Amino acid sequence: MKQKILTGDRPTGPMHIGHYVGSLENRIRLQDEYDCFFVVADYQVLTDHLTETEETEENVRCVLLDWLSVGMDPGKSTFFIQSKIPEIAELTMYFSMMVSLARLRRNPTVKEEFQVSGLRSMSYGFLGYPISQAADILIVRSHMVPVGDDNVAHVEQTREIARKFNRLFGKVFPVPEALVGTVPRLPGIDGQKMSDSKGNAIFLTDSPEEVRQKVSTAITDPARIRATDKGHPDICNVYQYHYAFNRAEAPYIAGRCRQATIGCVACKEDMSDKLNLFLEPIREKRAYFEVRPEIMRDALHDGIKRTLKESRETIELVREAMHFDYRKLL
Ligand code: TRP
Repeated sequence: MKQKILTGDRPTGPMHIGHYVGSLENRIRLQDEYDCFFVVADYQVLTDHLTETEETEENVRCVLLDWLSVGMDPGKSTFFIQSKIPEIAELTMYFSMMVSLARLRRNPTVKEEFQVSGLRSMSYGFLGYPISQAADILIVRSHMVPVGDDNVAHVEQTREIARKFNRLFGKVFPVPEALVGTVPRLPGIDGQKMSDSKGNAIFLTDSPEEVRQKVSTAITDPARIRATDKGHPDICNVYQYHYAFNRAEAPYIAGRCRQATIGCVACKEDMSDKLNLFLEPIREKRAYFEVRPEIMRDALHDGIKRTLKESRETIELVREAMHFDYRKLL
């Protein structure tokens, strides 16, 4: 029996290269070794996009296209939509009794997301979404969760919930491990956290020209004003991209930057070429799947069926452990 992986994404729009190095890359790499479940987390969009639900379906399609085009393979792995699995909502209900308000308020990612959301007050569902994420992970009794840096706090909370449940009711859940990617937090072109909405992201769907244009405006080492100034790759965003997408040549580039034998303009041009080389096969696959919607539809139908089967088994175990099976009464 293979160990299980569960991870996924919020459908809020196209995915970016930060998602790739943070989590997608690990998913693709581990598809053969693990039994993988990938969730499109539509409930989670409601936390900060409650008034734009008419956009969700298209955004779900967008995420699925991103997945297919980077090589996540529904022939090997299971794709599903969070709200199509009622057992996740049930598990969230039980788990919500096992987490204190103080613990939820301490979650640094929730705090940060609330701040950038611009919302005036935080809903119960927003504060509690890490509990629902724990239910996503544990409904299939997953062992490992490939995520970017920002989701490590949620996996930590999931581990606490799994341990608490097991202690109170007997061992039902594995205590899952987070697995962060090669570059857990790739900065945006402005050096801030790469984000869908801040105009600082390079998307998997960007055209070669868009990539070139964005990279050309990226903030580099602020102390390097003239090409003859010696650079500091360790504080340069573009160097981070070299490290992520041009790994073999990264030490050489860093050396030339420090010696000032390459300027930022040339370094950026080189980076754009490398990024476009990386994105080209992804663009081709996207074009292929875009005109074959039946592949996505079949993947979802099969994936939801498979996840329901797994989830029903888990929820049976949970109800039994919690004495919620009412065997005498019913
Ligand atoms: N919170 C994740 C994100 O920011 C999405 C997500 C929802 C998730 N459920 C999950 C990630 C379960 C890992 C495991 O995109």
